[in-house]
Amino acid sequence: MMELTKLFSPANIGKMELKNRLVMAPTLGIAPFHGVPLPEEAKEDYLPPLTIDYFVERAKGGVSLILGQSCMILPESRAPGRAGAWDDKFIPGLSKFAETMHQNGAKAAFQLLHHGRLLTAHREGMAHPEEIDPVAPSAIPWGYRKEVAREASKEDIKHLVNGFAEATRRLRDAGFDAVEIKGAHGYSIGQFLSPHSNHRTDEYGGSPENRARFACEIIAAIKERVGADFPVIFLMSSSEFIEGGITLEDSLIQAPLFAEAGADALHVEGGVADMTAHITNPCYIYPDALFADHAAAIRKVVSIPIIVGGKIGDPILANQIIEEGKADFVSMARPLMADPEFPNKARSGKFDEIRYCLWCNNCWDVTWRESFRKRGVRSCTVNPAYMREREFELKPTSSPRRVLVVGGGLAGMEAALVLTQRGHKTTLCERSQELGGQWNIASKVKGKENYARFKQWMSRELDKAKVEVMLGKEVTVDFINETHPDVVIVATGALPRTLDVSGAQGKNVVQAADIFSNKVNVGQRVVVVGGRYVGMEVALMLAAHGKHVSLVTERDLGQNQRFMERYTLLALRDKLVEQGVYIYPRSPLLRIHEDGVYIMNGIDPLFLKADTVVLAVGVCPQRKLLEELETAFPNLEIHAIGDCVEARDAMEATREGAEAGRII
Ligand SMILES: Cc1cc2nc3c(=O)[nH]c(=O)nc-3n(C[C@H](O)[C@H](O)[C@H](O)COP(=O)(O)O)c2cc1C
Ligand code: SF4
Repeated sequence: MMELTKLFSPANIGKMELKNRLVMAPTLGIAPFHGVPLPEEAKEDYLPPLTIDYFVERAKGGVSLILGQSCMILPESRAPGRAGAWDDKFIPGLSKFAETMHQNGAKAAFQLLHHGRLLTAHREGMAHPEEIDPVAPSAIPWGYRKEVAREASKEDIKHLVNGFAEATRRLRDAGFDAVEIKGAHGYSIGQFLSPHSNHRTDEYGGSPENRARFACEIIAAIKERVGADFPVIFLMSSSEFIEGGITLEDSLIQAPLFAEAGADALHVEGGVADMTAHITNPCYIYPDALFADHAAAIRKVVSIPIIVGGKIGDPILANQIIEEGKADFVSMARPLMADPEFPNKARSGKFDEIRYCLWCNNCWDVTWRESFRKRGVRSCTVNPAYMREREFELKPTSSPRRVLVVGGGLAGMEAALVLTQRGHKTTLCERSQELGGQWNIASKVKGKENYARFKQWMSRELDKAKVEVMLGKEVTVDFINETHPDVVIVATGALPRTLDVSGAQGKNVVQAADIFSNKVNVGQRVVVVGGRYVGMEVALMLAAHGKHVSLVTERDLGQNQRFMERYTLLALRDKLVEQGVYIYPRSPLLRIHEDGVYIMNGIDPLFLKADTVVLAVGVCPQRKLLEELETAFPNLEIHAIGDCVEARDAMEATREGAEAGRII
């Protein structure tokens, strides 16, 4: 067994002893809130039971320190659905959190946050937006917003510094072991640190040292208020990755100042919320541990511990980062959402049992999806129990039934697994010779190596649970007549769609799925039709192979009925531009010819020459069997799940599989 001795060795942050080097990065543990009316108690102190349940699972899973979630320091800087620490009335709720983490083996910290100019965006979701006071280092709008935050006076700065100190005092009184101060990602402190958002000419602006003054005053005030022994972790963006923003050079000057002011550890990440949030929340196309080299550089200029986060989802990599001296601790957010048991499994060398994060960012996207918002639930593609921990506890059935699951894609596999684990006699039939369905194609995309790992994980779990799996088995009405199942779950998925335009059946037209599967050849000049995941991914793959690629899409890039997950969209968009793909948004395809395509560009048709036209225009639900069974067996209990209901994505598939597995 490979032992990760570095990752699982104890270490200190200040006087706080931690049992290992694996820290849980802050993750907002709430149900979707945008546009959803909040329950009364949520408006001020949003630590409902499901938040606690969510973090408890991670504490049990073996992480040494939980940084909780961002928490508001002042009433006038509240944001929707966030926890509060601006009043002593929150102490009982916060105490419950800290105490529960301790009972389950983890140390507890919370992250304190002030949004600064970002409050102009957040106050829209508030019941009383007039109470919110967007104040920032300089009067510069946030992102695309017209509204401008007011420039902080010296009095405001004192008030904010005191707000951080008092909120920390409340955390300490509530029994927390440490506090994290959010100096990263372009929130209030980050806005002071960055020349991009700080245009002040007084002692808080200008040089890197002056820009660090606000942060240092906060750290020093906290230490004065709660005593030198209470650990302060400072979260910083080593670089904002924008023109005119914080650079690593700035951070190398500012990090020692944070340490001098009293910080006990620096937590290094990157990016800024209004411009490069897609780097802060890196999707699958980014390299692993993308901030580790910056952390290593910062570690050389300070003598306090460094925590590094950002796309570190492999235990061996995490161990290596510490072994190589790049950091003293690693933080993980999404990997622990995907598998709360990650640390325990890694410590005992059970690497295959870990359900690895896919870096798909669907855990962000749920906030905006109607199907989740209206029910107030969240999900994770590989872990449908994320934020539904208690509801999804596996309860054995009291009346085992014979269930037939038709279709071995993600929805079918998830349903079959849960049903069997609950004691039903389940058979999973798959028409082809392998499980996975459309997932097998998705797994072939560059950067999506963990997608294949998820299927392997699922297959092993099905084996362990002893699910009866029949490959190469086409289910028909006759088969149901022969086997008489009590319940049938239809999860027959979807197949790539074609287009109803002239020339769509031509020899020069291929499906993107067939390119990923290496089934077709592609000419030198290519037009890809479709501007969502598959279209952008296939365009990138072909451009990387030296093809001349144009991408045409009927609407905006990433848009269908709704926009795709934003961070992934921005990452793919940047990559398309970097690789020289010609992008034609809002340009419906008119017709396909042997030597190219006509698209509508503005009010005029435009001809694009092409040797090959690649279709990436979505999928069609496969409902034939469902309809046949419903007609032939009107009294049979039949459930339909996944893409055969409506073409959507993997997260909806696993969620529906998980739900179906629990209602039978
Ligand atoms: C659902 C979700 C909620 C998050 N909430 C916070 C937060 O409250 N404060 C914060 O600083 N970062 C937050 N993050 C960012 C993470 O702490 C972390 O920086 C990011 O996910 C990259 O780390 P990872 O690759 O380990 O996931 C959140 C991330 C996710 C996915
Ligand atoms: S939804 Fe995707 S990115 Fe988020 S935790 Fe799950 S697998 Fe990871």
